[in-house]
This record gives sequence, C-alpha cells and structure tokens, in this order.
Amino acid sequence: MQRHPSSFAHRATPPSIGRALACLTLTCLTWLGTAHAAPPKGDASRGQTLYGQQCMACHAADISLAGPLHRGVVGRPSASVPDYPYSPALQRLKLTWTERTLDTWLRDPNRMAPGNRMGFAVSSAQDRLDLIAYLKTLQPQAATGSSKP
Ligand code: HEC
Repeated sequence: MQRHPSSFAHRATPPSIGRALACLTLTCLTWLGTAHAAPPKGDASRGQTLYGQQCMACHAADISLAGPLHRGVVGRPSASVPDYPYSPALQRLKLTWTERTLDTWLRDPNRMAPGNRMGFAVSSAQDRLDLIAYLKTLQPQAATGSSKP
C-alpha cells in the first residue's frame, strides 16, 4: 500500500464527508418515513418485549404467579384459570377476554372491576395494542393440569 502526501486527501475529505452525511440523512429520513407509515396494528414482537418489562413481574404464560397464567387468555372467560384465587371483583366481571375487553382492562382495571387486585395499568394505547397482539400468540395448548384422569 502506498500512502501519498496527505494534503490531497485532506482537501478531498470535507466534500465527501458532506456528501456522505447528506446520503445518511436521506437514508434515515426515508427509513423513518417507512416506519411511521406502518398500519396502526399491534406488533406482537414489541408486545413480547413490553410483556417482559411490564407483566412478567406477576404473570407468565404457563404458570400462575401473583397473577393468573396467560396462555389462551384471548377468547377465554374472565376469572377462569382453575385454582387461581381471583378476587370477588374479577369473579363478578363475567365476560370473555377479547381484544376489546383486554384493552379496556389494561387501560384501567379498577374502572372495569373496582376492587380487583391487579394494581397495574397501561396508559399507552400503542403499548396495549402490542401487548394484546402478543397475548394472541399464546395459543391454548394441551393443558398440563388436564381434567382427564
Ligand atoms: C403487580 C402485579 C401485576 C402486574 C404487573 C400485572 N398484572 Fe395482570 N393481574 C394481576 C393480578 C393479581 C390479577 C388477578 C386480579 C384479581 O383477581 O382481582 C391479574 C389479572 C389479569 C388478567 C385477567 C386474567 C383472567 O384470567 O381473568 C389479565 C388479562 C391481566 N392480568 C393482564 C396483564 C397484563 C397484560 C399485564 C402487563 C401489561 C399485567 N396483567 C400486569 C397482577 C398483575
């Protein structure tokens, strides 16, 4: 490799950096533009991250912790995990968990079921969409605690 006087390189550098920056800026803007154009739907993989950050302190897919297990929750009647000690407030709710009812629940559990024991709400509508998209991926499976002998 031959390295020749650097004065030439120095002179050449500023414009090419400028061009590179302009290019980079354009690329970034285009990229951001595309990201913003995404439809307002739930993103299950973002939801999974949020679930890890916000829900897993009390919930898991397959075992009840402080809160009831979540596998199959979308489409399941409220307060229906066997052996989980639901509050009377949640037992009285008597609805099916759907995208809509879950959204209402997560936005303000106390408003939906005053006196329930969840004590956690998700104020961002997009976060709720993403979380519910993730909950939908937790398809019911052959339950471990099968009722068959
Ligand atoms: C601080 C603990 C805690 C956190 C954090 C928490 N939950 Fe809960 N969750 C509970 C408890 C406790 C219940 C049962 C409430 C009752 O019986 O009154 C519950 C109930 C639920 C139910 C009703 C389930 C059923 O079987 O009827 C859903 C759905 C739910 N939580 C979703 C979530 C989601 C999604 C998150 C994260 C955004 C979350 N929870 C965060 C404690 C928590």
